Amino acid sequence: MPLFPVYSRFNFTPVRGSGSYLYDADDRAYLDLYGGHAVISIGHNHPHFQQKLRSQINHLTYYSTSVQIPLQKELAEKLATQSGLAEHQLFLCNSGAEAVENALKIASFYQGRREVIAFRRSFHGRTSAAVNITDKEAIKAPLNKSFPVSFYSFEDLAAIQKQLAQRKTAAVIIEGIQGWAGIYAPQAGFLQQLQVLCRKYDTLLLLDEIQSGYGRTGNFFAFQNAGIEPDLVTMAKGMGNGFPLAGVLIHPKIKAKPGMLGTTFGGNHLACTAGLAVLEVIEKENLLQQAKQNGKYWQEQLQAIPGIAKVRGQGLMIGIEMDFPIAKLRKQLLEEYHILTGSALNPNVLRLLPPLNLSTEAIDYFNQSLQQVLLHQTTYA
Ligand SMILES: Cc1ncc(COP(=O)(O)O)c(C=O)c1O
Repeated sequence: MPLFPVYSRFNFTPVRGSGSYLYDADDRAYLDLYGGHAVISIGHNHPHFQQKLRSQINHLTYYSTSVQIPLQKELAEKLATQSGLAEHQLFLCNSGAEAVENALKIASFYQGRREVIAFRRSFHGRTSAAVNITDKEAIKAPLNKSFPVSFYSFEDLAAIQKQLAQRKTAAVIIEGIQGWAGIYAPQAGFLQQLQVLCRKYDTLLLLDEIQSGYGRTGNFFAFQNAGIEPDLVTMAKGMGNGFPLAGVLIHPKIKAKPGMLGTTFGGNHLACTAGLAVLEVIEKENLLQQAKQNGKYWQEQLQAIPGIAKVRGQGLMIGIEMDFPIAKLRKQLLEEYHILTGSALNPNVLRLLPPLNLSTEAIDYFNQSLQQVLLHQTTYA
């Protein structure tokens, strides 16, 4: 049976992972600076993660939400202390797009409205509502376009206010930092103004932290730089370190009704165990601080490398923009230097989303390798 060929893949087959490294069948090490789309937060096969999952497998792997699952409460309690949103409620699901679908649904239920404001270059997932609020027509099927969505540029507050004043908008959704597009961060002042407008016109502010959250920027969530408190926050990726786990944080003013949301697999025993292991490691190893410090060091070093047009990002969410498309450069980094990196919608941007406990030695190795490659950059022109 052929696989439905929707992905473009590197000719590379990892068989084992450890920390920031992947290994092929010949046990050759590859430095993973992409974390499989920002998913590997605490490193591949972290011993604490492995031990907790093994132990849970020996007890119970799954049962549905028709029974008590104390692990869900344990996860919610840990999130309350670590996320900075102690009063918010938690709904658990399985993937980023599913978290976005549920967050939009909550906003629409709460407001009784069906219009959404999103932003240019946004990416929120590929399921029905999530792809409708993603700024890329080519990946939307006709049935996805089932509710009105308007896309604005960052800072376009006048136009946003005009639309909000009509009081038909259920939610304004914005990524903490736009990842897929090529690492573009909204200004703190803009997020603050957006919150003011949302409150003024009774619209929910929804922060998509699926890529930028869980410590990636050095804060638990990227929006915390702006000191705002969103009504809804979506999380996934780093939350389970590779185990499918996602969630929505929901403001206490929003009350649940039985059956309003639901999922068969969401918050199962193994998923919650993975989620708990991640939070325990983030706390114990002080990974937020490490991401902040190493990200700062990395960006300073990158700024000094000749041939780089721009460096953007926060913590360990970094975009390196070149004056040329980076496809060949990525291939060369993988094949000659054994370094995995990411691409973006902007073809000139190399995207770095490594594990949060990446060492400075690994950062230095990447910088030296990139410098070597850029010495020969005429071949890319
Ligand atoms: C900001 C953002 N939202 C939503 C998603 C969708 O997540 P998933 O692929 O888990 O459905 C992604 C995935 O890249 C993302 O970066």
